[in-house]
Amino acid sequence: MKASTTESLDIAAIRSDFPILQREVNETPLVYLDNAATSQTPEPVVETIADYYRHTNSNVERGIHQLSQEASIAYEEAHDRVAEFIGATGGREEVIFTKNTTESINIVAAAWGLEALGPGDEIVTTQMEHHSSLVTFQQLAERTGATIKFVEIDDEGYLDMDHARECITDDTKLVSVVHASNTLGTINPVAEISEIAHNHGALVLVDGAQSAPHQPIDVEAIDADFFAFSGHKMCGPTGIGVLYGKRELLESMQPYLYGGGMVRKVTYEETTFEELPWKFEAGTPVIAQGIALAKACDYLDAIGMDRIEAHGQELAAYAHDRLSSFDDIEIYGPPADDRAGLVSFNVDGVHAHDLSSIVNDHGVAIRAGDHCTQPLHDTLGIAASARASFYLYNTREEVDVLIEAIDDARQLFA
Ligand SMILES: Cc1ncc(COP(=O)(O)O)c(C=O)c1O
Repeated sequence: MKASTTESLDIAAIRSDFPILQREVNETPLVYLDNAATSQTPEPVVETIADYYRHTNSNVERGIHQLSQEASIAYEEAHDRVAEFIGATGGREEVIFTKNTTESINIVAAAWGLEALGPGDEIVTTQMEHHSSLVTFQQLAERTGATIKFVEIDDEGYLDMDHARECITDDTKLVSVVHASNTLGTINPVAEISEIAHNHGALVLVDGAQSAPHQPIDVEAIDADFFAFSGHKMCGPTGIGVLYGKRELLESMQPYLYGGGMVRKVTYEETTFEELPWKFEAGTPVIAQGIALAKACDYLDAIGMDRIEAHGQELAAYAHDRLSSFDDIEIYGPPADDRAGLVSFNVDGVHAHDLSSIVNDHGVAIRAGDHCTQPLHDTLGIAASARASFYLYNTREEVDVLIEAIDDARQLFA
């Protein structure tokens, strides 16, 4: 059962699960605020990986021996656990383990898009997409002769839903939308977008890289046809991502990679493929990573995704308020009380890279650059921004350290 948002998190207990947070950087305690890029990994997940290699390591689905059977069961069950985490009642058949969000999106483009799209078809996406979908669908459009349209954002960083309704037509075959923007912190109305898309017969891909780690997900409630996310942003290991797809769609699609593990019967002339999801997991799959991702789901659910969401938003609102008190700081995206757990900003006269380097002297890790949203930065009229992104182990005191470090940078450049 999930805990209520009114209970706050026991941050001290949570932090004790993350030994890396005890580290010092530049002789000061580490303040890790780069969670939108990669989150830290709690002991139970690290232990799961170590345990797997200590006791179970073996290839899956190939051996009759004990270790292979144990690894296979754990790996299969990991798919069920991840399905449960995102509300996919179809279970393992709707959950493909990939390398990351980027690969998940590329599978949709290659295995569905190359077959389904042609000249005259349209892909609708938004101005706030991460390169992992924007570049992929730009290339898909180029290769298939389809055209790509971008739903605009308004001055506050919200999607212009009137423009979305104009862009999505009967020619639209796919709508690809980021659930929570990794730059603006906007949380998009994906259920509403799905409804508009489905009314026109289009499929919907939701990029959940920044939502799955931070809020309860129900892929069926939002009626996503595809939903993509990464393990390393949600307390899991690197090297694993997930592509959720509705079963009938995945069944109708060609495999993405061919080879061992995804086949049922092979002759010199032809091959029949395994059932879902193995049809999409050619070669030796991400065994240890998949099992560890399931453990990360256990870890997050035990704390409560609704509480994790509330905590991240509370810290982002606090950071937003404190940053707003400086009149030479520009913050991008929606107001303090309506955003995901991150804040992107610029300090007048200080390049984001310099800022990041100075706050690093204070032990603070933030992101600087375009956050893989170059076109969005162009729309905002900036080359780069600084981004602080929060997770379940961060505190208000850490935000205060960030603000002091930023103040230091302002004074250095004054
Ligand atoms: C919104 C969004 N989509 C996609 C990605 C790509 O994730 P990955 O690098 O794990 O493929 C990211 C990573 O920052 C992201 O923030």
